[in-house]
Amino acid sequence: MKIFNYTIRSSKTMKAALGRDLADIPAGFPALFRGADKLCIVAGADAPPSLLARALVLFPEGGKPHFRFRLPPSEKAKTLEQAGKLCSFLFAKGFSRNSLIIACGGGAVTDLAGFAASVYMRGINWLSVPTTFLGQIDAGLGGKTAVNLGGAKNIAGTFHQPALAVCDTAFLDSLPHSELRSGAGELVKYAMIGPGSLARTVRTHLSKTLAGDRAALTACVSACAAYKLKLAAKDERDEAGAREALNFGHTAGHAFEALSGGRLPHGEAVARGLRFALIASRESGLLNAERFAAMSALVDALRLPPAAAVRRDFRRFLGLVSRDKKARGAENRFLLTAGPGRLRAVEGLKPALLKKAFEGALK
Ligand SMILES: NC(=O)c1ccc[n+]([C@@H]2O[C@H](COP(=O)([O-])OP(=O)(O)OC[C@H]3O[C@@H](n4cnc5c(N)ncnc54)[C@H](O)[C@@H]3O)[C@@H](O)[C@H]2O)c1
Repeated sequence: MKIFNYTIRSSKTMKAALGRDLADIPAGFPALFRGADKLCIVAGADAPPSLLARALVLFPEGGKPHFRFRLPPSEKAKTLEQAGKLCSFLFAKGFSRNSLIIACGGGAVTDLAGFAASVYMRGINWLSVPTTFLGQIDAGLGGKTAVNLGGAKNIAGTFHQPALAVCDTAFLDSLPHSELRSGAGELVKYAMIGPGSLARTVRTHLSKTLAGDRAALTACVSACAAYKLKLAAKDERDEAGAREALNFGHTAGHAFEALSGGRLPHGEAVARGLRFALIASRESGLLNAERFAAMSALVDALRLPPAAAVRRDFRRFLGLVSRDKKARGAENRFLLTAGPGRLRAVEGLKPALLKKAFEGALK
């Protein structure tokens, strides 16, 4: 018997273009487009007309066949069925391994279109063009793709780096306040996990960001995107621990999303998941009262609306967190904090402590 061992390293680099009012991406990145025989822009059915208009400024028609595919709104897009529909559409239109998918939308669109790109003909190139604040600071970067299964988040998915991510903050002009606030849930996470310089950028710009200030949004997108790409490049497949920090607040957050039947926006669920993690950290004796107050003030600044859509079903919550893929077989596993930038993974927290954090997070 012969045994061969090959060291496999991702052949792809993580490339991103960031800024405001970008234009004609193919002219700026000719090597990416030269060999592409067809392009398909994938967007959400509820996206405003201005979104497609801006997408066509970035990717002008002409020369190559240009197709469009519309997905159902938000989380309804993230199903195996929708991935199958997109793959069938591509096949019917003659897409080959040289074709290109351009995912243009929020995190639901980039997660689903990236997933379809990773399985269509065993993987074709795609471009991630996040158009929400949350997408530009987080979801559209780093190459994780996913669909939801059985009412739980991101249960089937792949790692498939986009050939290029394009974050054009001009897309954010049409974003409603509720989506800015949802994105700010992930923004606040960066202030809790990142280095002091990133936390200062977030604190300086948080209130202006919520008011839709263009300069503040662009400053936060560039600081957070740079940090996310750095962590993702260090730990592309989430195996070395570097990327785990990005999940802070997400175990409880994903459970809150599931308990709302997908009605609680992702970023709001994460913000409540952060509150959960802060209370659990304080109750475990990890986080002192002063740091707890300072970190909680960031979540309070979001002025979250009541989480009326979330069912207060603690037993189901326990079931969801034990089945979370980040639990790795433990009864429960949470990232807790001892202060900004200081995270600890803790397993087997007691139900009484979890209940206190559950109730406090949903207040
Ligand atoms: N892959 C990852 O690393 C990663 C990280 C974080 C979150 N996510 C996923 O991202 C998803 C959440 O993404 P989201 O917050 O962008 O929400 P979303 O994709 O559900 O979009 C929210 C809404 O914003 C609308 N929209 C998009 N762009 C717009 C624009 N420019 N103007 C006006 N409206 C616009 C959409 O049509 C939709 O109705 C979740 O499914 C989450 O699991 C993935």
